[in-house]
Amino acid sequence: MAMFFRSASLVVRQATALSLAGARRYSTGAPYQYILVEKKGEKQDVGFIQLNRPKALNALCDGLMKEVSQALDAFEEDSQVGAIVITGSEKAFAAGADIKEMQNRTFQECYSGNFLSHWNKVSTVKKPVIAAVNGFALGGGCELAMMCDIIYAGEKAQFGQPEILLGTIPGAGGTQRLTRAVGKSLAMEMVLTGDRVSAQEAKQSGLVSKVFPIDQLVPEAIKCGEKIAAHSKIIVAMGKEAVNAAFELTLTEGNRLEKRLFHSTFATDDRKEGMTAFVEKRKASFQDK
Ligand SMILES: *[C@@H]1O[C@H](CO)[C@@H](O)[C@H](O)[C@H]1NC(C)=O
Repeated sequence: MAMFFRSASLVVRQATALSLAGARRYSTGAPYQYILVEKKGEKQDVGFIQLNRPKALNALCDGLMKEVSQALDAFEEDSQVGAIVITGSEKAFAAGADIKEMQNRTFQECYSGNFLSHWNKVSTVKKPVIAAVNGFALGGGCELAMMCDIIYAGEKAQFGQPEILLGTIPGAGGTQRLTRAVGKSLAMEMVLTGDRVSAQEAKQSGLVSKVFPIDQLVPEAIKCGEKIAAHSKIIVAMGKEAVNAAFELTLTEGNRLEKRLFHSTFATDDRKEGMTAFVEKRKASFQDK
């Protein structure tokens, strides 16, 4: 949750490196201050959210997280959108939470207000969310990436939970999702030393599924989103629900849920179309029904 890079030169380079070309507002509604939102893909079926606080290396402040929630709500309601990509800049996905916002908070305020409890929005959306991580994904940035369903990394990406350096621990799922993703030893090492891992180490440990050259990362994440968006939305949602259940349920209960969801696919037009198209050796045309 920490914003670890405040060096002025870094910030200046960051500001000039960030290219906003081609970005436009997603809706005619409230403009966003901290993020850029648009639809991408040949069929405009991939919702795209770019964290855009370049001077702060995308430090996650409350306002930014609220805007991400709003953008996600809009994409959830948009029947054209079948998948969502969240990215930052080439320098930083998000270098942590905004420590200035936390510096003088008391326990009583944190506890009474259930501080950070509304930061988990990304983990509750039904549509698949892909994190495209270039640069730093530290503290809250790493936690945000881990709330997504799939993580792609640029080859210079760095992941870490350095809260321990600030006298605190991760508070937005860092100790839980990291441990489930990479196992106890590496998670413990990262949380207790504050050391970062590279994109390659993250791939090796199962934290990310693919690593790409920096400039290919976002296009590849969008391609993945397009591939998912081409499938039946209702069936994709069932697949996501079933995989997520693996983190919550025993094997017996998880397998039971999977079986019921599998049975449920037989109540849909899209399951019938998919199998009929397969038998007729043609491409399926899904109607999300
Ligand atoms: C926190 O408190 C200290 C000491 O009272 C003060 O100097 C500092 O400016 C405060 N920080 C913020 C972000 O308000």
